[in-house]
Amino acid sequence: MNGQNIKEAVGRKAVEVLVKSGMKLGLGTGSTAIHAVRHTGILLANGTLKDIRAVPTSFQTTIECEKLGIPIYSLNSREIGGKLDLTIDGADEVDPQNYCVKGGGAALLLEKIIAYASASFAVVVDESKTVQNLALAFPLPVEVIPEARLPVTGALENLGAEVILREAVRKAGPVITDKGNLILDVRFRRAVDPASLEREINTIPGVVENGFFTRIRPAVFIAHRDGTIEERR
Ligand code: A5P
Repeated sequence: MNGQNIKEAVGRKAVEVLVKSGMKLGLGTGSTAIHAVRHTGILLANGTLKDIRAVPTSFQTTIECEKLGIPIYSLNSREIGGKLDLTIDGADEVDPQNYCVKGGGAALLLEKIIAYASASFAVVVDESKTVQNLALAFPLPVEVIPEARLPVTGALENLGAEVILREAVRKAGPVITDKGNLILDVRFRRAVDPASLEREINTIPGVVENGFFTRIRPAVFIAHRDGTIEERR
């Protein structure tokens, strides 16, 4: 199967296995999670699923839900009450403990708020995303308020990382996130402890959030090139 087909297969699979009528559902961002969004839309339209209240993690996902007619709310809506049953999202890297790096699409802030407000969390990836150690190959995205760009860069370099300001494509200058912040891409030179670094990086003044996801252990659905889908809990 090609790359697109396996992303679609794994996105659909997670919905088939996990999503039930009546759920308050967090919907993730990116080229894999979008297939979970689309499949949810199909199952709602054909009546297989009913009464789904969705909270999207980005503008991308909001627009897709609007196109598909999936009812959307915010975490603060009365119908949601700050808690979700399940969130399905993609990831950039997953390690053997099911810890993840997210934020390749710069949506990590809402993605983390929504995942951590969910009773359960599922991640859909293709096999290229599985690694032994996080943030060595794919850099860790760190969202910072624009005024703190240089001090945060220095603090991250002091942790032994190489730090690059993410540049936009088809816009001059840096990526501006859905919440008006910048993204620093942070690559470590040796294996790190993601759980302690997730906490430590967020103590740097000006850091809004970082892309380590270690405080809720997701069920991981991994699509393989031979067409099989592995579930790793
Ligand atoms: C968005 O900010 C990310 O966290 C995505 O979930 C992640 O980058 C995975 O995206 P793809 O499925 O497009 O690789």
